[in-house]
Amino acid sequence: MGFATTWATTTLALYGAGGAALATSVAKLRRRFALSKAKHRSLTGHVRLARRLAALVPFYEYDEVRFFSSDGAPADIADRRRAGFERLSTLYKTRFTETIRRTAEAAESISDLQFTDAYRVPFQYSRYVRAHLPSAAFMQKSAGVTVSDLDGNLFYDVSGSYGVNLLGYDFYKGAIERGAARVRELGPVLGPYHPLIVENVKLLKEISGLAEVSFHMSGTEAVMQAVRLARYHTRRSHLARFCGAYHGWWGDVQPGIGNPVPAHETYTLREMAQDTLRVIATRRDIACVLVNPLQALHPNAPAPSDSALVDSARRAHFDKDAYADWLKRLRAICTERGIVLIFDEVFVGFRLARGGAQDYFGVRADLVTYGKTLGGGLPIGVVCGRADLMKRFRDDRPADICFARGTFNSHPYVMAAMNEFLRHLQTPQGRTIYRDLDAIWNERARRLNERLQAEKLPVEIVNMSSIWTVCYREPSRYNWMLQYYLRAEGLLLSWIGTGRLIFSLDYTDADFAAVADRVVAAARAMQADGWWWRHPALTDRAIRRAILREMIARRLFGGRGQWRHVRCGASSASSSSQSATSWPMPGSISSPRSKASGAL
Ligand SMILES: Cc1ncc(COP(=O)(O)O)c(C=O)c1O
Repeated sequence: MGFATTWATTTLALYGAGGAALATSVAKLRRRFALSKAKHRSLTGHVRLARRLAALVPFYEYDEVRFFSSDGAPADIADRRRAGFERLSTLYKTRFTETIRRTAEAAESISDLQFTDAYRVPFQYSRYVRAHLPSAAFMQKSAGVTVSDLDGNLFYDVSGSYGVNLLGYDFYKGAIERGAARVRELGPVLGPYHPLIVENVKLLKEISGLAEVSFHMSGTEAVMQAVRLARYHTRRSHLARFCGAYHGWWGDVQPGIGNPVPAHETYTLREMAQDTLRVIATRRDIACVLVNPLQALHPNAPAPSDSALVDSARRAHFDKDAYADWLKRLRAICTERGIVLIFDEVFVGFRLARGGAQDYFGVRADLVTYGKTLGGGLPIGVVCGRADLMKRFRDDRPADICFARGTFNSHPYVMAAMNEFLRHLQTPQGRTIYRDLDAIWNERARRLNERLQAEKLPVEIVNMSSIWTVCYREPSRYNWMLQYYLRAEGLLLSWIGTGRLIFSLDYTDADFAAVADRVVAAARAMQADGWWWRHPALTDRAIRRAILREMIARRLFGGRGQWRHVRCGASSASSSSQSATSWPMPGSISSPRSKASGAL
């Protein structure tokens, strides 16, 4: 072979290799582009960017003047707000004295309390709120749909114990007691099972329509196991989850803010979107698609916490048929591509229908996770699944296993309380709770909304059966204050505030009427105190821009605001007098307005 031939062959080979590389790059770019199109426009949809930006958000807070006029409200409105705030503060400190005292003491050593306390309202207001409307995190008794605090105050419970309280606290007290009595002789023996586990498995198989069951200690662990099994059996790396959906706090399902390290093998896709189906249908690395059916209430939005309620942009709308249709399309593509479809029913399981979201939406999953209420009042996580997917070893590869253990899995006391819960669902009384369930809760929401509207209160309830969220109909920076008015009216919310109200199904019409009266009274008081002051320039967009400007100013000009003391009730932030209610805080980042000239 002469030089010319060798040269030509080499050149051709290089061209060939170059062409192949180019084709691969184009294909890669195309896949990358398809993935980008399947992301939700919001920062929640761009988890890496959100993490990076979150790290840049500077801390700053409002001084007392700005606290009451951060939306540019005029002085008379700010004064009304201040008076209302002081009234609430006095009420809190006199009515919840002992509960607040004990909470403050405990918070010094309970990191969870410090966290939840700091994140009840947007951070710019947080310290001022904490100082004057301190958190009261202790309760001593529950009865029916109420709980009472250490001062003997009675609250209607709309926290739902994070969703655990489905049948009413009295039911779970009984389930724990009766269950404990049934396994007392065995006691906390772990490893071997108490025989009643067999009935749990039988009932769970029947309810889920799936062949096998595994027990874990929490919903987070159940989700971890379901995803691990999907990866093991498909031999693929990635899990696809949907924007905003919560699946517990394990790193791979929480790839955005809150997780100190990135989750490299998670795709966060836009829910109810054709572009997403396209990605799922074309990528070869997706092991499973994880769905939290609660998102049907607010697709692509994160859990609606009041700490993020900086404006009135919170939206929710539940369209059962549209979501069922989405799940059907997802099901079809997962089946076609051999992708494991996981329903995470830790929250909604048993709340929407006896057979859970699978029955409610009419779509079957390959693996289903349950938790919360299923433990009969005790901690639990459960995976139900197809037999081939639940298997943790390979017959032909003895060393290739999918490991999952847990010291307290299948704890006899938990299995016994679960058994009480599952048996109850078999009784005629247990079955009746699902009769007309949606109709009852839709009608209750409708009637309350009618009252709110009739009184021109800018508050609206959106519900998915007994799971409610509060939306706000006029732009405002102060919607988060409603949680404090609701508490003053005797309603117990969870720490995320008005974003999630969860009712137990033992609420009678009379109980509910009392709650509705209190919601209206709270909103009325809040309106009278001027928090929902309106101005044409006060739009959600303008609010967000103003906050962005504040952040940029804070980053550019740093923490040069001098420290000074402000006092609740003082007519001016420049007051230097110190008293029991004074505390140090930095000066406002922009000069406080003594006389507001217009919104923002
Ligand atoms: C849908 C969903 N999955 C998983 C979890 C995590 O469960 P747990 O808090 O028991 O770990 C939750 C908790 O709220 C949840 O709502």
